[in-house]
Amino acid sequence: MRVAIASDHAGFELKEKIKHYLLEKGVEVLDHGTHSPASVDYPDFAKKVVTSVLNGEVDYGILLCGTGIGMSISANRYKGIRAALCLFPDMARLARAHNNANVLVLPGRLVGPDLAFWIVDTFLTTPFEAGRHERRVQKIDEV
Ligand code: RB5
Repeated sequence: MRVAIASDHAGFELKEKIKHYLLEKGVEVLDHGTHSPASVDYPDFAKKVVTSVLNGEVDYGILLCGTGIGMSISANRYKGIRAALCLFPDMARLARAHNNANVLVLPGRLVGPDLAFWIVDTFLTTPFEAGRHERRVQKIDEV
């Protein structure tokens, strides 16, 4: 599995922890930055991950900012992207099962590493249920 990850300065610390966690599990990680806690603009980093997802370079994207809100708004501007801000593992499960989310968004300032790892694991291992959800997701992508 290949995953693209990026954050702004507010998500940097947790992004690094998630990256190493995934690498240890054998997941291929494409790190689009940021590479330090210096202040940057989250839309620039959302664009990099979204591009990797849309061109098929990776299976999923992971984005982090302070709240996850700026990254969510930014990523969801791109057609074909279904970015889900998840605060609990169950949100990640349903984002995959029902929404076929292709980008996980996490709030770097609001969740600790252990919870974040659990959310990431849930997101990356839950399949899309399709069925009645297929039609709904198609309607989103038709907009
Ligand atoms: C940066 O201070 C903060 O605004 C950003 O990380 C994010 O939370 C925006 O939605």
